[in-house]
Amino acid sequence: MSGSLHQNFMMTITAAIDKFNPDMAVISRAAEVIKSGGLVAFPTETVYGLGADALNPEAVKKIFTAKGRPSDNPLILHVSSVSEASRIVEMNDKALNLAVTFWPAPLTIVLPSKNEIPLITRGGLSTAAVRMPDNPVALSLIKAAGTPIAAPSANISGHPSPTDFESVYHDMNGKIDFILDGGSVKVGIESTVIDMTNPERALMLRPGGMPRELIEDVLKMRLEVPDSDSSKRSPGTRYKHYSPDIPVIIWHRGNRLPDNINPETSAYMGLDDPENFKTAGKILFSSVSDYARGLFSWFRKFEKGNFQCVIVQWPEDNSGLSEGLKDRISRAAGK
Ligand code: TXA
Ligand code: MG
Repeated sequence: MSGSLHQNFMMTITAAIDKFNPDMAVISRAAEVIKSGGLVAFPTETVYGLGADALNPEAVKKIFTAKGRPSDNPLILHVSSVSEASRIVEMNDKALNLAVTFWPAPLTIVLPSKNEIPLITRGGLSTAAVRMPDNPVALSLIKAAGTPIAAPSANISGHPSPTDFESVYHDMNGKIDFILDGGSVKVGIESTVIDMTNPERALMLRPGGMPRELIEDVLKMRLEVPDSDSSKRSPGTRYKHYSPDIPVIIWHRGNRLPDNINPETSAYMGLDDPENFKTAGKILFSSVSDYARGLFSWFRKFEKGNFQCVIVQWPEDNSGLSEGLKDRISRAAGK
């Protein structure tokens, strides 16, 4: 078999695993793949991650290839304890307080990197992002691998992040070594990313699964918007993200449907059931967290369903997961 054929399609092993009580034989097989420089997709509480040994530059390089990800977009290093994070980044008291209070949680903290972290993992930056995920499969995998695991979301770059095994399999089968099937995720949107490099000025780089108000309560200060210069330090925010292949139209409660939209060929998702238009596809969520959990998987289902577009309700609320949900919706709509 030619080398290039081998590179273009590899055998992907898949294994189901109970997320509440992971089978350690399966975990150690996946951990062996990480230790030997391979790629393993695994569930976290937010979305599935595409993991490699964060300290092995050759392994990390494979992540960028499998995803088609721009190489200046840095990765999050997943750790299984606060002390493991302290070994690879320069903690300060405020960041430590957040980590001790919340982790494991959908909260990623950007801090000055120590030399152990290869430049490729942090996209050439002097800082690195760390997070301890709240999922027993993820935590046992990191522990068994004995190294921090670098992992972006396990989707092709630009697609919606995968929130179940089927979505990971769709995007990654034949491109990676191993997929751990831990069922559907709990949160559904990615972690909140904050920059604590300067402990006197905490920056919100990406709203997400950890609500802003909980972080601000513990920090006893507001999370600031990065100025245009420092937002260059969160390169991920530069790229178009989270979009299905069909157009995403934002709908505000009380508004009419835009005239150019034909409900009979459209799908809708949201919290309200608008009486004034009848779409061919419709999914209603009972709460903002339910909405966040379903957003990406319904994007994928609707794009497969031959709809002309998907109409998405804008959440009016400002607390909890609303900020992260609005961010993902406006990015998907190309705003
Ligand atoms: O929930 C999540 O965060 C998921 C799961 C798998 O943990 N991961 C995830 O990774 O969403 P990714 O690569 O799709 O998004 C990471 C974000 C990007 O916006 C990236 O630019 C930012 O974190 N980031 C990583 N390192 C950074 C750094 N040193 N400085 C600024 N931003 C950084
Ligand atoms: Mg992503």
